Amino acid sequence: MNESAQVICPPALDVGKIRADFPILQRTVHGKPLVYFDTGASAQRPRQVIETIDDFYRNHNANIHRGVHTLSQEATDLYEQARLKTAGFINAPSAEEIVFTRGTTESINLVAHSFVRPRLQPGDEILISWMEHHSNIVPWQMLCEETGAVLKVVPMNQRGELEMGALVDMLSARVKLLGVVHVSNALGTINPIADICTLAKQHGIPVLVDGAQAMPHQRVDVQALGCDFYCFSGHKMYGPTGIGALWGKAEHLQAMTPYQGGGEMIRHVTFEKSTFNEAPGKFEAGTPNIAGAIGMGAAVDYLQKLGMENVAAWEAQLLAYGTEKLSQIEGFRMIGTAAQKAGVMSFVLGDIHANDVGTIIDLHGVAIRTGHHCAMPVVQFFGLPATARASLGIYNTFEEIDILAEALEKTVGMFD
Ligand code: ALA
Repeated sequence: MNESAQVICPPALDVGKIRADFPILQRTVHGKPLVYFDTGASAQRPRQVIETIDDFYRNHNANIHRGVHTLSQEATDLYEQARLKTAGFINAPSAEEIVFTRGTTESINLVAHSFVRPRLQPGDEILISWMEHHSNIVPWQMLCEETGAVLKVVPMNQRGELEMGALVDMLSARVKLLGVVHVSNALGTINPIADICTLAKQHGIPVLVDGAQAMPHQRVDVQALGCDFYCFSGHKMYGPTGIGALWGKAEHLQAMTPYQGGGEMIRHVTFEKSTFNEAPGKFEAGTPNIAGAIGMGAAVDYLQKLGMENVAAWEAQLLAYGTEKLSQIEGFRMIGTAAQKAGVMSFVLGDIHANDVGTIIDLHGVAIRTGHHCAMPVVQFFGLPATARASLGIYNTFEEIDILAEALEKTVGMFD
């Protein structure tokens, strides 16, 4: 670490101790210690999450909400405790407002089908931003094709910040939903969600927030944000894959009709007609990912214990150090330079293809993501085929950024 980075780890966050919680960080890749900078794609899991899942399968495994026997009741309690923890983590007014889903994508699809579709008429609009992940583009495109509604896109500037003036101009009574990402996975931009919600509310427009990349990095308070729906994934926040949640305002969830039918989501079934459970149960058809939800609850406990303010402070220091350090490398250009940014460093290195960069530094044990990051319109906006992306997590260190920088310098050297 060089002298210019006079940084102090907040006392409440002991990164050495955190690293010891993540077994995978002990392994080597190509004979080098693993340096993991792909948390944006999927975070690693602490032993607390792994052990919670292991304990569930060893000691409590059974189906939930269905059995009178002890195991079923224990499993049900653990699952519902996870819902409570998740609600508390985002300051939801009630656990009833948390629907467990497979992840952010399914949460968005649920809102598209159960909330937006019944309200859409031909000519209505759905508004999204230019920096959306495909999961917050494609479901709306499909819905527009089906209903004759129109998808409109709020532009961004060259720093990767939303054009707020354009957003204001695009808000109207025709807009039936505004879908916006909290933190861009491809650029790191943190969008001013509270301000956006205030503006949307003036037109009575409901706001859905893709919070997948915000949840692991900062405190999220859905009431303070003022949104209508907030979507996130367990695996981005140090929990398991295949689990996530939709938070929705109770009034919306109560009024929505489920789009998936099956067991568990019903109250009464005859061949003539079925009636549905209350929310959130009516949106959780079939046996859910019980272990996943319980594992996500363990991830929430883990992050709560660290304190999201400490997490954000640590990652901000890493980002500042990384931005300065990498900028010194010949040909380095950061893509995404918003004033408000989370721990994402998307970049190009001269005219070396991002995939070559990723492949070469993997030989040094360094894992980054390369490509379009499931946000093709973002890379197209910058006129690029792809970027390389180093995304930060709670276990990263300044020394690892030095290793990344060294690996990138060697890569540049190979192409000189
Ligand atoms: N959305 C994930 C990413 O940003 C996969 O890499």
